[in-house]
Order: sequence, then C-alpha cells, then structure tokens
Amino acid sequence: MSAVEHVRVRLKSERQEYSVRIGAGMLAEIGDEARQALTPHARRILIVSNRKVFNLYGARTVASLRRASFQVEHLLIGDGERYKSLRTLEHTLAALSRARLERSDAVVALGGGVVGDLAGLAAALHLRGLAFIQVPTTLLAQIDASVGGKVAVNTSAGKNTIGVFHQPRLVIVDTETLQTLPPRELTAGWCEAVKQGAAGDRRLFDRTFNFLRNESLNITASRAPQLAQLIAAQVAFKASIVAGDEREDVSRSDHRSRRILNFGHTTGHALESVTGYRRFRHGEAVGYGMLVAGELSKKLGLLDGSELELLREAVGSCGRLPRADDLDPKRIISALTADKKSVGGAIKWVLLERLGRARIVDGREITARTLRTALRVALQRVS
Ligand code: NAD
Ligand code: GLY
Repeated sequence: MSAVEHVRVRLKSERQEYSVRIGAGMLAEIGDEARQALTPHARRILIVSNRKVFNLYGARTVASLRRASFQVEHLLIGDGERYKSLRTLEHTLAALSRARLERSDAVVALGGGVVGDLAGLAAALHLRGLAFIQVPTTLLAQIDASVGGKVAVNTSAGKNTIGVFHQPRLVIVDTETLQTLPPRELTAGWCEAVKQGAAGDRRLFDRTFNFLRNESLNITASRAPQLAQLIAAQVAFKASIVAGDEREDVSRSDHRSRRILNFGHTTGHALESVTGYRRFRHGEAVGYGMLVAGELSKKLGLLDGSELELLREAVGSCGRLPRADDLDPKRIISALTADKKSVGGAIKWVLLERLGRARIVDGREITARTLRTALRVALQRVS
C-alpha cells in the first residue's frame, strides 16, 4: 500500500464525524477500517453493488471484510441511472431484511454514485437507520457523491426527488479502481472536479487544471500519489462546505452555502432531461452547465472575460464532451424552469464573481434574451 491520505468530515449538527481514507490498494484495508468505524457489536454486512463493479472489486472487498470477522452477503442491482428507483429501493430493503441485518450492522455501497445514493437511502430507512460505508469506484463518486450524506432515488417527478440526508460512517477511496473506469466516466468526474474549484476554491481550481494539463486523461499507476493528493484536496473542500451547511439550508445564499455545489447543475439537469438521459453522462452535462453559468456571469457584469476563458479551457481539458449545439434552446429553457432547485418559484442560479467565488442570483434578474444568448454561445463544441 502506498501512502494513505486522510480527510475528516466534521458535522456540527449531529456532533458526528467520519473519515475518508484515500490511497492505491485501500480496498484491502476495508475490513480493519470498518472494524474501527462501526460499533463493536457489528456482525453482518450487506454489500450493494452492480455486476460490473462487483466482478472487478467484489472479491477483494469481501475477503478484507471476512478477515475482520464480518459475515458478508451481497446484492447486485442493475447498472445505470434507471436503477436508482423506488423499485430497486424496495428490492434492496427486502434484501436487508432477508440478510437479517440488525441496528448495529452495516451496508457497504461498492460502486459509483448510483449505487451509493441507492444503498445509502436503503441504509437510512432500514430499521430507521443503519450505518453505511461508501466505497466509491468512479471519480465523480470519489470526489463528490460519497461525501456529504445526500442519498436519494429518482421518480417520474425527476432526479433525486425522494431522499434524505444520511451520512456515511466511513468512506474508502481506492484510487486503483479508476484504472478500469471508462474514459467518459473519467471526463464526467473531472468536470465535477473543475466545478468544485470554480465554485468555491481558486487554489483547488488551479491545482485540478494543472493536473489535467500535465496528464494524459488516463489514470496511470505512476501518478497514484499525486492523484490521491488531488482527490483528498477535492474531498477536503467538499467536507468544508458540508460542515458549514449540512442540509443545504434554502434560506442561505452566501458563497459558502452548500448550494454553490450546484454550480453548472441548473443547465446540466436540463440538458440531461431534454436528451432523455441518453446523451450525456451527468458530469459532462455539468461541464456545459458551468459554461452557460459562466456566460451569464459575464453578461451580468460579474465575471471577467479572461476568467471565463480559463474556465472554458479547464472544461476542455476534462475530455471531449458530446455535442450540445444541436439542441433547441426553447426546450432547454422550459426544462430549466422545471428544475427542483428553484426556491419560492424562481430558479436560483449559481453564478461566478470570479473563479473560486460563487454568487447565487435570482432567475428573475436574467432576461429570456440573455439566457438564450448564453445558451447559444456556451453550447458550442468544447475542446
Ligand atoms: P454510475 O454510478 O452510473 O457509474 C458510472 C458507470 O461506471 C456505471 O456503468 C458503473 O457500473 C461503472 N463503474 C463504476 N465504477 C467502475 C470502475 N471502477 N471500473 C469500471 N466501471 C465502473 O455514475 P456516477 O457518475 O458515479 O454517479 C452518478 C450518480 O451520482 C447520479 O445518480 C447522481 O445523481 C449521483 N450524485 C450524487 C451526489 C450526492 O451528493 N449524493 C453527487 C453527485 C452525483
Ligand atoms: N453534490 C452536491 C452536494 O452534495 O450538495
């Protein structure tokens, strides 16, 4: 095992804290780490995963947990966003009952954000709340989805419409898992990494952009320490925002509110929706969403043109995004207005004053014409 990065997530409201451990080969340590993080009474663990990820990483995870004397079973759910559903949730809750998990036992989510969100919600509901351990295997889940306790499923009313906040007890990030991740999933993850820096931390933005500039987009073993350090910096940033606004207080609109993490998401969700969730990976849509928000910021006189250009270069360095310039702006605008992130009937845009500092702007301050122009300019091909 190479060096392990360690980030503590400290939550004020629940007087709770948990560790995020990051390094190459961390999966072999999950048993010992779980023993330390869970209550001494913990005996049983249900791993929730999908076939693809479990075939790659299930055996290592199970072996490590069994070495630490846990009784381990697993449940495989379907692969893809459509399985983040009430139906899969019901199957997962039934599996928890069948496996006779007790209040002191735990759920392990082994996979990307879909598995993490679904398994976390099941853990929150079973017996009014089991401990759960996040083992994120996509870049997006390692830097974002596995930390902060948002767990949810989708319904016909939209994405993540049924969910709760349920913080994990432990997060294990094995950076080796990224070596099998398809390139588009890496691009999607890098877009979210650029987002976190752009929305709230200029140094993190520079560090992420430098890493991308100096790297081929593939993750190679020789860069493992640098990668683990960058992921740790990303997690530390997310943890600092979550610690200050654990439940995304709707009355807050300052530059440290959790809502700033939705930078790029207003248009991103609309792009996913108008293309039936088939064209873009979530992070790719957020890539374009950031550029739309950047254009709006410039048009409102908040953001300097050179900063917007830098943002464009950083998004371009994440990898090629699917085209978006053929999409009808009218359909995007009508999908935008249906976004659940609106408050009091108005969209709350996360815009930028500069790279690293977000500003929340009421949608009523943006004319339809400004929005149409921003969409036209920002949805041109990137990279
Ligand atoms: P995903 O979970 O669908 O995973 C992407 C694909 O990669 C899947 O096909 C998966 O099987 C595969 N995969 C995962 N790990 C792999 C590996 N190591 N090697 C090879 N293949 C692997 O997608 P995602 O981007 O990780 O997550 C997206 C989901 O996360 C969305 O549902 C989104 O709403 C949610 N999300 C949640 C939060 C949060 O705070 N809870 C934040 C951001 C996103
Ligand atoms: N991914 C946004 C959040 O966790 O708040």
